[in-house]
Amino acid sequence: MSQDGFRTGEIDTSRPHPARIYDYLLGGKDNYEVDQQAGDQLASAAPEVRIGVKANRAFLQRAVRYVVSSGVRQILDVGTGLPTAPNVHETAHEVAPDVRVAYVDNDPIVKAHADALLSRSGATSIVLADLRDP
Ligand SMILES: C[S@@+](CC[C@H](N)C(=O)[O-])C[C@H]1O[C@@H](n2cnc3c(N)ncnc32)[C@H](O)[C@@H]1O
Repeated sequence: MSQDGFRTGEIDTSRPHPARIYDYLLGGKDNYEVDQQAGDQLASAAPEVRIGVKANRAFLQRAVRYVVSSGVRQILDVGTGLPTAPNVHETAHEVAPDVRVAYVDNDPIVKAHADALLSRSGATSIVLADLRDP
């Protein structure tokens, strides 16, 4: 059990979750009503969040391109989030197809989605784990 009472391995759809709120704010479809309500509350308190999530995603792509162009060949992505194209490994492989990417997230929904996506990809893996328990 993690510090916030979340049991790794279980999917709790009764409470909003950061990955699904983020997915909702990005315009994705992998979220529930509780996540949409939380996302709308967040955006009404801080309207810039809708631009912020897109800017964050754009930064992620630029950062991956930069490190891979600089010679990095192994990436550890902690707090992966729900798959949103282009994902880290897809961006990395555009620059260098031999890059290996390990995704880590503590949300079983993220893992389920990533498992489905990564089954088609060789040099990537996903681990269900909590950053606070290294
Ligand atoms: C906002 S998403 C970020 C997605 C992506 N990295 C990006 O920047 O576009 C944050 C992710 O961190 C995950 N996360 C939050 N706390 C975590 C923890 N303690 N350990 C592992 N993952 C965590 C959430 O499940 C969520 O998928």
